[in-house]
Amino acid sequence: MNISVVGLGYVGAVCTACFANEGHNVTGMDIDKVKVDLINKGKAPIVEKDLDKYISKSVKENRLRATTDLKEAIDNSDITIISVGTPSKSNGDIDLNFIKEAAKAIGEKIKEKDTFHIVSMRSTVLPGTGKNVVIPIIEEISGKKEGVDFGYVSNPEFLRESSAIYDFYNPPKTVVGTGNKKSASVFKELYAFLKAPYFETDIETAEMIKYADNSWHAVKVTFANEIGLICKRLGIDSHKVMEIFCADRKLNISSYYLKPGFAFGGSCLPKDVKAITYKAKSLDENVQLLNSLIPSNRYQVERIFYHLIKPLKKRKVGILGISFKANTDDLRESPVLELTEILIGKGYEVDIYDKNILLSKEKGANKHLLDNELPHINARLKNDLNKVIKNSEILIIGNSDEKFRQINFLAHKDKIFIDLVRISTNTSQDNYIGVAW
Ligand SMILES: NC(=O)c1ccc[n+]([C@@H]2O[C@H](COP(=O)([O-])OP(=O)(O)OC[C@H]3O[C@@H](n4cnc5c(N)ncnc54)[C@H](O)[C@@H]3O)[C@@H](O)[C@H]2O)c1
Repeated sequence: MNISVVGLGYVGAVCTACFANEGHNVTGMDIDKVKVDLINKGKAPIVEKDLDKYISKSVKENRLRATTDLKEAIDNSDITIISVGTPSKSNGDIDLNFIKEAAKAIGEKIKEKDTFHIVSMRSTVLPGTGKNVVIPIIEEISGKKEGVDFGYVSNPEFLRESSAIYDFYNPPKTVVGTGNKKSASVFKELYAFLKAPYFETDIETAEMIKYADNSWHAVKVTFANEIGLICKRLGIDSHKVMEIFCADRKLNISSYYLKPGFAFGGSCLPKDVKAITYKAKSLDENVQLLNSLIPSNRYQVERIFYHLIKPLKKRKVGILGISFKANTDDLRESPVLELTEILIGKGYEVDIYDKNILLSKEKGANKHLLDNELPHINARLKNDLNKVIKNSEILIIGNSDEKFRQINFLAHKDKIFIDLVRISTNTSQDNYIGVAW
């Protein structure tokens, strides 16, 4: 393929060299003449293992050249990869100046082309940047239409400096976000040489994945460091602890607990997080990530009331499932119980249906609790799901009981369903609100 790469820094130089090494004709473009001259002399513009070797071989074989002239780069290519910098502003926001400048210049050149050109964003940009910033700039300046005259692809980069070439050939995944089939099929072919999992999605999802990834990596580092701080104070080898921690591929290093939804609860997580953060405090260690968990979890409960329920201006709420998860009658630290108490405290009419709590109400562990500590919950427990639905204006689905899965939201158009557990995959209905989707 004929590819141009705009911005020859860490990301641009590596993908320029690697795509050329794969046999494509690549034109690298940068406003920095020093970088351009270095590449044309077969030298790497940055320090990166093996990059010199890749660049000099492709330059010698005439598959790679660099230029400061964008027109030349666009004319010589059908795909333009943008890899300019996206630094932070002083307020933390992303600075899109380099991106906007590059988009304007690309728009000018695409205006003069009469073939379909694909613009691919390799730089890290916030969700919405493609649709709201880059595509409109290119469309306005070129007078052409995305999806018709040119294609736009979000294709985030996952390489790490110092192992960038290895990472280019062995990425954790390839993500291609686009709204048009033509660009999608060209990119499928472009990446056919990689064995990594390949995900085709919309532009915003692709943009967001990069931020989810990097936030997660930052959480991992900070988490490990905070466990390290506590271990050091207690005279425990933190590396041994984390080695065993990481060996748990079921709950720890796995997709478990990583689905957006409602607050955590139950008999262990809140109690144990409180205990270990109290211990850290008593050891004079400030473990800010761990300390943030209980307040953040509390916010998840409060925002359901303030952001989702209150604005609906209705007073009758049915709670479908109040234990902390389906198939248990454990009410200890159930976040749905906390939400229910907020509603009762604020004078809402609340009915509750939970078959496991009903079962344990007569004898099980909950009898004493419901009679003595939770009489306000006890008095609102109903044994007929249909009646609870009928009597309510808002229904909160609090756990994934099979019975709730079978509710046909469309059959109750006058009610609003707030789903805390993603009971339904049909999430676009008018009377359905997902908690985090
Ligand atoms: N460095 C990494 O490890 C890494 C990894 C993944 C993603 N990213 C993302 O990739 C993007 C690029 O990062 P980087 O580290 O390669 O940046 P960088 O600062 O090393 O390189 C950016 C290059 O863009 C050039 N440039 C700026 N404006 C230009 C324009 N209008 N036309 C042509 N060239 C222009 C600059 O001269 C510079 O050479 C950023 O969004 C970054 O967040 C970086």
